[in-house]
Amino acid sequence: MPSFRAPGPRVPRPRRYLTCEPRHFDVRYAINPWMREGTPVDTALARAQWESLVRVYRDLGHTVETVEPLAGLPDMVFAANAAVVIDGRVFGSRFHAPQRRPEAGAYARWFEEAAGFEVHVPQAVCEGEGDFVPVGGLVLAGTGFRTTVEAHQEAQEFFGVPTVSLRLVDPYFYHLDTALFALDDENVAYYPEAFSPGSRAVLERLFPDALLATADDAMAFGLNSVSDGCHVIISPRATSLIEGLTRRGYVPVPVELSEFHKAGGGAKCCTQEIRGSSDCRLRSSSSQAGAMEARCD
Ligand code: ARG
Repeated sequence: MPSFRAPGPRVPRPRRYLTCEPRHFDVRYAINPWMREGTPVDTALARAQWESLVRVYRDLGHTVETVEPLAGLPDMVFAANAAVVIDGRVFGSRFHAPQRRPEAGAYARWFEEAAGFEVHVPQAVCEGEGDFVPVGGLVLAGTGFRTTVEAHQEAQEFFGVPTVSLRLVDPYFYHLDTALFALDDENVAYYPEAFSPGSRAVLERLFPDALLATADDAMAFGLNSVSDGCHVIISPRATSLIEGLTRRGYVPVPVELSEFHKAGGGAKCCTQEIRGSSDCRLRSSSSQAGAMEARCD
């Protein structure tokens, strides 16, 4: 008989998210293979999709804040790229594409003036949670298309958390958060083919029990998901991944964000997680303190 370990109960943890309304969202330039300059965007549909994402977060008990969108910055809706926040410490961004560079200051102002954080302005090119995924007492850090290895080093010095560089090799998965997401404080889901052979081996070593996605899941933005440890906000077209999550006791919550796929983004790209001091535990203590009382059902 094959050995089978039934998944334990999944426990959600309340999160604090920063988002940006898609008032000025558009596809006006092409800086990744999903983008075609001049692709028409259905603004009303984009807005409705974004509103349903925010509604789902709030219904699940998460806190959602918003930064004021600026005209002329059509990608500003992708809040994940603005920073990575661990332990209440904000490591800001330095965008690769000139078209997106002014977003860094706009978000830094929100963090400093509206939310009372200090922002570290990085020296090297880095795109926040697009390429930095904190999990299991580590920061997984993508490179190859946007964020540089120098920025990984800088983030490690800043946070004092071990940073593991992972090389992305497929331009469709130009940010780490298009190829991998944290399921909870201990495990991840990812698409192996998005990574170099060495980085794939690192992921296998660190996360032997990871949930692996198919090419179809990945191309449907299934890895650009947001998990609270139990509920997983996911693209409805990532059908195999949705099945895999369900088998492991997570609760997939499909949210359609097709208008944003035209710019190369999905749910995670639209969501910046602001992690407080109790949210980032090392592997050994991750299953205990801070969890929501309620079980996930
Ligand atoms: N058009 C944006 C870019 O290419 C999309 C960013 C998506 N964000 C993300 N976290 N993957 O920069």
